[in-house]
Amino acid sequence: MSDSARIEFDGQTFEAEVLTGTEDERALDIRKLRASTGLITYDPGYVNTGSVRSAVTFIDGEQGILRYRGYPIEQLAEHSDFIETSYLLIHGELPTTEQLETFRQQIIHHTLLREDMRPLFDAFPRDAHPMAIMSAATSALSTFYQDHYDPRDPDDIQVSIYRLMAKLPTVAAFAYKKSIGQPYVYPQNSMRFTENFLHMMFAVPAEPYQVDPEVAEALTLLLILHADHEQNCSTSTVRLVGSSQVNIYAAIAAGISALWGPLHGGANQDVVETLLEIRDSDSDTASFVARAKDKNDPFRLPGFGHRVYKNYDPRAKIIKEAADRVISKLVGDDPLFAIARELEDVALSDDYFVERKLYPNVDFYSGLIYRAMGLPLDMFPVLFVLGRLPGWIAQWREMIDDPETRIGRPRQIYDGAGERDYVAIGDRG
Ligand code: SDX
Repeated sequence: MSDSARIEFDGQTFEAEVLTGTEDERALDIRKLRASTGLITYDPGYVNTGSVRSAVTFIDGEQGILRYRGYPIEQLAEHSDFIETSYLLIHGELPTTEQLETFRQQIIHHTLLREDMRPLFDAFPRDAHPMAIMSAATSALSTFYQDHYDPRDPDDIQVSIYRLMAKLPTVAAFAYKKSIGQPYVYPQNSMRFTENFLHMMFAVPAEPYQVDPEVAEALTLLLILHADHEQNCSTSTVRLVGSSQVNIYAAIAAGISALWGPLHGGANQDVVETLLEIRDSDSDTASFVARAKDKNDPFRLPGFGHRVYKNYDPRAKIIKEAADRVISKLVGDDPLFAIARELEDVALSDDYFVERKLYPNVDFYSGLIYRAMGLPLDMFPVLFVLGRLPGWIAQWREMIDDPETRIGRPRQIYDGAGERDYVAIGDRG
């Protein structure tokens, strides 16, 4: 196979080297295209454009393969826990017992928020979407923790990583408690990561609270499955914002905002809202699938389709199996789960979905598990944030450490008005 490609234009020839990845993915290196030919490329949504070389996560969308640092997601889902998987993503290797314990202890001892952060939660209306609070509070962490801040200082980066991993679950739980008018429950250093989060979410100061180990296990699985996904919208946002050399808190806060959208991490909330609509309406799943196909109807089937996967999302497969187990244990028969399975069957037997290779993605079944755990719908994207955080951190660090990193600044094709002179307001039509 050739290792270069030639572009002929206006009597000029540009020879583009073909770059090859670990799994034989190929890319045209066009870094000198404009200097050589005056041409730029045009690719809305970056469908055909690689923005970086990365060693963090590999996805094969045609085969439905997902690996973190080379380890198949199925093996990590079965054998790992979220803190170990976070260490793997951030540091590139599975930790030794000592490395893992140090990482775990560092995170445990950074879970508290400064007490003077609490008024920030009171400043929001009670019905504020918690994703707005997550983004604002994450950016605000840079003002409450200014002592380790410099994105060029390895020690500062390490402390900031511990603080983000440790404090975002506390921020999420405080946002939830604020929304239901309950007292904040502080982190307990005696608890492991997932149990600690569930305790802060569902305990009340008035009585002891026992975390259900099956709920903790299901949440750990979901956090692992959401931990990274190469250059998705929110990760690309973290990299782009981070490329200006702003602090990591600001870059992660930007990623949270990108993830909030219903086309991205907000889809898990959208799925359950749609299933509730189907349950409470006179329409059946077939009519919702028909709406999703109708170009005159803005409705798209939430939790279905993916920019990269043109096969079943391997995460959705694992989550569907877990949903079966967890939902029946926690709530028994869930009519929404039955509707979701029917919706999947109807869609996957419809040519429109088959031709476009639209399958359930990570968001299709995850919300049903969160709901069975007792979480409100608007907290579902927040759980996506907590899962994706180590991936964002790993990708941000790779960007900061990459000698090829330059500030992100795409070009454009201008198709606005040509040059024209200013017209005084009295002379305008
Ligand atoms: C996540 O990128 C990542 O890795 C993301 C993520 C991660 O872990 O970070 O995996 C997490 O964001 C998963 C996706 C969650 N979003 C949704 O479930 C929202 C519903 N899905 C769609 O909006 C859509 O599939 C996207 C946004 C996920 C992907 O959009 P693309 O790649 O731009 O695809 P497209 O919109 O160009 O669709 C191609 C065709 C179009 O039809 P035609 O123009 O060819 O006739 O497929 C159709 C679309 O209309 N289509 C759908 C559909 N998804 C695509 N039609 C109905 N329902 C859908 N869900």
